[in-house]
Amino acid sequence: MDFQIKSFDDYKAKYKASVDDPEGFWADIAGHYKWQKKWDKTLEWEFKTPSVKWFQGGKMNITENCLDRHLETRGNKLALIWEPNDPKERFIRYTYRELHEKVCKFANVLKAKGVEKGDRVALYMPMVPELTVAVLACARIGAVHSVVFAGFSAGALADRINDSSCKVVITSDGSYRGTKEIPVKGVVNEALKSCDSVEAVLVVERTQWSVQMKEGRDFWLHDELEKVDANCPPEPMDAEDMLFILYTSGSTGKPKGVVHTCGGYMVYAGYSFANVFQPNESDVYWCTADIGWITGHTYIVYGPLLNGTTTMMFEGVPTYPSPGRFWQVCDKHGVNQFYTAPTAIRALMAAGEDHVLSYGLYDLKVLGTVGEPINVEAWEWYHIHVGKERCPVVDTWWQTETGGIMISGLGNHSPMRASYAGYPLPGIQPVLLDQEGNEIEENEKEGYLAMKFPWPGILRTTYGDHERCKNTYFAHYDDYYFTGDGAKRDKDGMYRIIGRVDDVINVSGHRFGTAEIEDAINSRDELVAESAVVGYPHEIKGQGIYAYVITKQKPDNPDKLRAEIIETIVKQIGRIAKPDKIQFVSGLPKTRSGKIMRRILRKVAEGDTSNLGDTSTLLDPDVVEEIKEGAL
Ligand code: WT7
Repeated sequence: MDFQIKSFDDYKAKYKASVDDPEGFWADIAGHYKWQKKWDKTLEWEFKTPSVKWFQGGKMNITENCLDRHLETRGNKLALIWEPNDPKERFIRYTYRELHEKVCKFANVLKAKGVEKGDRVALYMPMVPELTVAVLACARIGAVHSVVFAGFSAGALADRINDSSCKVVITSDGSYRGTKEIPVKGVVNEALKSCDSVEAVLVVERTQWSVQMKEGRDFWLHDELEKVDANCPPEPMDAEDMLFILYTSGSTGKPKGVVHTCGGYMVYAGYSFANVFQPNESDVYWCTADIGWITGHTYIVYGPLLNGTTTMMFEGVPTYPSPGRFWQVCDKHGVNQFYTAPTAIRALMAAGEDHVLSYGLYDLKVLGTVGEPINVEAWEWYHIHVGKERCPVVDTWWQTETGGIMISGLGNHSPMRASYAGYPLPGIQPVLLDQEGNEIEENEKEGYLAMKFPWPGILRTTYGDHERCKNTYFAHYDDYYFTGDGAKRDKDGMYRIIGRVDDVINVSGHRFGTAEIEDAINSRDELVAESAVVGYPHEIKGQGIYAYVITKQKPDNPDKLRAEIIETIVKQIGRIAKPDKIQFVSGLPKTRSGKIMRRILRKVAEGDTSNLGDTSTLLDPDVVEEIKEGAL
């Protein structure tokens, strides 16, 4: 891969070049891809509105770069390995030629169902090979994919389908995850009761359960595939045409649809993958994320395939059938680069070393983490027991909105330090800002993490509501993209991410707005008067969810009420948003202007009531005592 950085000195030189002449730098990287027509203008931008356009006038299709471009030299090389939930079931492998054919056929099925360039298609699927094929099939014909993580509830799915008026939904009959059997199609059926835009549903057969199919609307994928051929030329796309929407939570309101576009996202996904993971031609790369999150989009599907790498997808969970599963799979397929989340590492660490010590893991070269800050203890366990102290650990900081990795080690070419993400990738210009929005120039300081220059993978808008994009990311500080994270820069200029500074909580690497969970709780308005949700440190999940709830009447059976509240959240958002603790209170600590003092609630939730600050100015100081006493 010819734009791979080769040493730390090389990095420093490239970094400098990328800041001195960002357009020249990215134009050079973009030149490595196949463009049907070269771009006229590399970059046009301002962060006020905001408006960012990369490679304007360029025509391309990302799937031509992920698939067709490799056929001559890598046609018989493995593109995709799929490892099933049950280790006894057969795994599946596709070469680049096979994947290309499957994508073309699937794309023709979408066309036959009336999907056209620009139409939105929702994907609500388990981690089966057809999910990767479906993502690429959409991109092939210029349809905008909106993948919704299959752990979200029917209500959450319906909201997302409706927000972007999806025309088609792709799903499966059911799914297996660990010992669980999940009725995926049932959830879709429920969701579609309130989705008028959906004209067709394509159903992948995975479990062979009998499911309800609606005549004229629902079709089995395997039946439809029989009616099409494998000839489907890639749709010519403008670089700034929409590639996909991915919903993510923020501090206010409903989740928003982050929009990424074709050209810039492609360039950034490919470049960042090649440099962070440093794959060689014969390597097998495995990212354990779900394609329902940005990590899966960029680093299971697009990044690896853009580089002609063999990418693996895994249907199951880290602990099934035992907490040695990840390592067994690494040995089975000879995994060279392994990318997972701190929460998974902590869970496996808690299960004991024996599970990892029985595997050789000889092929591993690079280990990665993503999604939340990794504590030193978990980092060391990963480095020592998984990487046998010979593999660099790349702690990759980025966001749904950034499209790809922003701050991270680059294979073994950068210095690493436990709990530090490290240095920005070339082309990335992070700054730390103080309260007033002034740049903090010195090192050994903490501040708000922001970006002062665009990179090709930056989000372009939030679907259907550009104002919201502006207010969320570009209005806090003039002329900066604000990340919502706090960070520290050490004496050597390495970045350490501290965590969110807004009302977003990160549970096992999944993002939730506290407001979103509060809205779900408050929807039980016959029982609930008010609620406040905060995050607190959780040993495995990073953060746990702590809900303070004021009920209309004193609950006579608190446990029953807790179960009801949990059920409501599971229904409205999904099982991943279940609170860990629910405390019933008679009031919340509020300022005289009525603002909830979340700082106090966070302190109590984390079990630290020693230093709550001055509570005498609160509307009702007594309530703090009550909350402290009832803390769970
Ligand atoms: C938020 C973004 C990007 C893919 C997964 C999550 C946190 C992400 C790290 C890291 C510390 C991290 C941040 C960020 N985060 N990676 N290496 N160290 N924190 O994507 O759902 O968009 O969440 O995850 O708080 O803002 P996301």
